[in-house]
Amino acid sequence: MKITVIGAGNVGATTAFRLAEKQLARELVLLDVVEGIPQGKALDMYESGPVGLFDTNVTGSNDYADSANSDIVVITAGLPRKPGMSREDLLTMNAGIVREVTGKIMEHSKNPIIVVVSNPLDIMTHVAWQKSGLPKERVIGMAGVLDSARFRSFIAMELGVSMQDVTACVLGGHGDAMVPVVKYTTVAGIPIADLIAADRIAELVERTRTGGAEIVNYLKQGSAFYAPAASVVEMVESIVLDRKRVLTCAVSLGGEYGIDGTFVGVPVKLGKNGVEKVYEIKLDQSDLDMLQKSALIVDENCKMLEAPFT
Ligand code: NAI
Ligand code: 2OP
Repeated sequence: MKITVIGAGNVGATTAFRLAEKQLARELVLLDVVEGIPQGKALDMYESGPVGLFDTNVTGSNDYADSANSDIVVITAGLPRKPGMSREDLLTMNAGIVREVTGKIMEHSKNPIIVVVSNPLDIMTHVAWQKSGLPKERVIGMAGVLDSARFRSFIAMELGVSMQDVTACVLGGHGDAMVPVVKYTTVAGIPIADLIAADRIAELVERTRTGGAEIVNYLKQGSAFYAPAASVVEMVESIVLDRKRVLTCAVSLGGEYGIDGTFVGVPVKLGKNGVEKVYEIKLDQSDLDMLQKSALIVDENCKMLEAPFT
């Protein structure tokens, strides 16, 4: 198993380190445009092996030849959000970066599974898929795991219960129009509506929708990376170990939920072949409307991008 992480910034480096610690790959390449950064961070990680007790061969590089024959590539290259900046503000710049990066990945790896992290997530996943020429099952966006993790942690905090017992369902695009689905969010199987007052649930839903901005406002420079990296690793682990986890990921829909050809977050089964099944769950009309609205925003942005790039 060989995994390459493109972008040795906060999310990329944290992801690489977690992957190394979990020994999910024999070979792990950290790649960035900036000279020295991926090499230095990778060597630092490698030197933690004797203490952390892992044997993953982590290397850093600026050369895509070193990513050759990767089984999985994680794309985190791009610019992070700054305070006051929406994910959509990043659109044009990051689309250029993701197209360039995807083209170079595909020159050296024939049939990788690509996990996209760069923002705006759903649109960048579409850009990577389009550029790669890969089947849609092999290009997957990370956001739903993170958004659900945020909702889960806020619910656990509210009730003073273990986060492990909270499952949450957050669908849609990774933006302010994401759709936390309250009826499928439970604590040990108990619907949260039975445990938390409706007005308080509405506040937790809103905090989830703005969870990324909350961290950006604290950090001032850069955006969240610990929870994002943990979320990427959960997806990669399910693929590497063929665990068939059911996780919310941004995938290209083919008519499910009345959405066709748009990448948006829905529950999928993740295994060694990438997306092995898309689950079409029964939604209330208001949640379905929100999901379709969220997909429409992604679609409009993709169309806007296509003109200059085709
Ligand atoms: P960062 O600024 O710490 O790292 C980005 C790295 O990308 C830098 O090291 C930079 O040199 C590199 N880079 C830029 N252009 C490149 C190119 N053409 N080729 C290779 N590397 C290149 O940013 P951070 O915090 O790691 O975030 C990375 C991306 O992930 C951002 O777009 C951010 O908005 C997004 N993000 C998405 C999340 C999600 O839920 N999908 C969660 C957190 C971040
Ligand atoms: C987040 O949600 C910045 O999209 C990133 O933290």
